Amino acid sequence: MHKNVHLITHPLIQHKLTIMRDKDTGTKTFRGLTHELSQLLGYEAMRDIKTELIEIETPITKTMAPAISGKKLALIPILRAGIAMADAIADFVPNAKIGHIGIYRDHDTHLPVEYFAKIPADIDSRQVFVVDPMLATGGSAIMTIDNLKKKGASNITFVCIVSAPEGIEALLSAHPDVEVYTAAIDEKLTENKYITPGLGDAGDRIFGTK
Ligand code: PRP
Ligand code: URA
Repeated sequence: MHKNVHLITHPLIQHKLTIMRDKDTGTKTFRGLTHELSQLLGYEAMRDIKTELIEIETPITKTMAPAISGKKLALIPILRAGIAMADAIADFVPNAKIGHIGIYRDHDTHLPVEYFAKIPADIDSRQVFVVDPMLATGGSAIMTIDNLKKKGASNITFVCIVSAPEGIEALLSAHPDVEVYTAAIDEKLTENKYITPGLGDAGDRIFGTK
């Protein structure tokens, strides 16, 4: 496996993902599990964030204690499905700025189409976590990271729930500096560019639109 790919195989994550994959799992449960898995994956993806010692005063004494240092964080959900992941991760990094990239895949060409972008102005000085449950062809992730790099971002991690080998290959060919965290690398893409076995259309299952 490519050194930049981090496959998170914790049993809790795998168990929850199995329930998400089941076609009989309804929207409420699917959305809740997306939230839980996003927090578990986000926690792993932030393992290497730098800390520095700062002076604080406990009720007992002054002491030096670690705090996140240097570059601050940005969460970039790819709409729509990424919103559920960013909301979940923001629970434990409430000071992270959140930027939104709207991209949908054209139904016929499967190529990404960007329709919205609102990125924190200081993105160049932030450690960036792009979040989207699905990495299929990689088109949406590549377009998002192209966009972020044009705005000066340089320290970028991509966090997804399910990925396809084709998407990982494409993303790391286009952006070899990016780290990828995923709960699963599935078999392949179907002719319609869905991940198989996958979990279907993540946006539709999170928001109940189908
Ligand atoms: C899904 C998913 C990713 C993209 C992955 O979004 O959430 O953004 O497809 O596919 P790719 O790797 O081949 O680009 P979709 O286009 O269905 O949009 P939606 O979230 O608005 O439903
Ligand atoms: N987008 C999804 O939501 N699911 C897939 O399997 C592929 C792209």
